[in-house]
Amino acid sequence: MEESIFQPYLATKSIFRMDREILRPSYIPDKLPHREDHIEQLAQILAQALKGERPSNVLIFGKTGTGKTAVVKYIENEFRKADAARMVHYLYMNCEIVDTPYGVLQGIGNRFIENFNQRIPFTGLSTDRVYNLLVEKLDEEKRVVIIVLDEIDKIVLKNGDDILYQLLKINDDLSRARVSLIGISNDLKFTEYLDPRVRSRLSDEKMVFPPYNAEELRDILTERARLAFDNGAAPEAALSLIAALAAQEHGDARRALDLLRVSAELAERNGDDRIAEEHVQRAKNKIELDTVIEAVKSLPTQSKLILLGILLNEEVGNTKLTTGEVYTTYRELCRRTGISPLTQRRVTDLISELDMLGLVHARVRSFGRGGRTKEIQASVPLLDVKKVLEKDELLAEVRGYRLKVQTTLI
Ligand SMILES: Nc1ncnc2c1ncn2[C@@H]1O[C@H](COP(=O)(O)OP(=O)(O)OP(=O)(O)O)[C@@H](O)[C@H]1O
Ligand SMILES: [Mg+2]
Repeated sequence: MEESIFQPYLATKSIFRMDREILRPSYIPDKLPHREDHIEQLAQILAQALKGERPSNVLIFGKTGTGKTAVVKYIENEFRKADAARMVHYLYMNCEIVDTPYGVLQGIGNRFIENFNQRIPFTGLSTDRVYNLLVEKLDEEKRVVIIVLDEIDKIVLKNGDDILYQLLKINDDLSRARVSLIGISNDLKFTEYLDPRVRSRLSDEKMVFPPYNAEELRDILTERARLAFDNGAAPEAALSLIAALAAQEHGDARRALDLLRVSAELAERNGDDRIAEEHVQRAKNKIELDTVIEAVKSLPTQSKLILLGILLNEEVGNTKLTTGEVYTTYRELCRRTGISPLTQRRVTDLISELDMLGLVHARVRSFGRGGRTKEIQASVPLLDVKKVLEKDELLAEVRGYRLKVQTTLI
């Protein structure tokens, strides 16, 4: 082949080999290291269904990335293997996507309606009518239905717990079929929003998935890397480093896998044949910056103006600002953009919100005679974030705007 500009990219392909599919969040591995006990416990509870009996309801808690969804999907595959006769129906639903009582009842009902023309429509019926249709359909045969409601807190926060109440008491209206529920939440406090009767029925059994520690994450990564990479492209040292970094943060397997994927992409793009520490560090920075940028993009306009004001000050060397100074710059930006300004009190609240998001750092400083003020500082990279803010159409009038440097007379 003749020398061409494509050469270096073609060459890297053959050195660095990975199967991207296996590193995707949607991939369900055949093995879930360090969740064997949870799987066994669930198997023990749910095995009742294979005997034609109704298993206890289960409530699963655990912080994000602790394998909750992976485990219930794994169980789904196991049921498929074990239950050739299809006596057990295992229905997975994500309540962030199906987030209305109507949607949940309709979704369950339609799994039991084969004739397309008889399907429950997306809208148009009353929820009670859909419930009755569901009961009728379910009860056509003797069967056990296990309904998994993932992110169950989302539907409760949005619509209250009526839907859970209905699904929990559905067995009273059924004579042949039996229904049990598995609820999953990463919000440990969510049961406080439930009616005590719903709470106690839903949590016949409770399970908690703890965050993974560094060693556990390393095992998870090693297992995944074995499937995804060839030719030793993901050496042990790199996997240990990724595991350690992810454990320091939250013990979140999703983060660890993201870090592995991005590190691999950087190594590949660089034409290297394996992941090295340098790629991991760069991947970490890249992911952090992406997270910050996403957070900034989704801020309401008023908060964007405040943040921009803080950054414009930083640009001219004012790094530690009082609330008053932030407010003055904010007013100036409002004037230039034609956005109506909020009160200083409200701006102070928004600064606290930016602080909670980790975008600014506000520290309370006391000075003589019990006086107190805040010292506010951006904790995001100036240039990258300013670029994102300036893309907002509403902020068009202040693109490229610079503050005048304050000259203090001595
Ligand atoms: N024990 C494990 N072994 C292998 N992969 C795992 C394990 N635990 C989690 N994962 C992987 O980590 C990612 C996140 O896991 P999962 O989606 O199950 O988290 P979750 O607990 O449902 O989090 P959330 O509360 O945010 O929904 C998935 O890609 C999953 O395959
Ligand atoms: Mg999940």
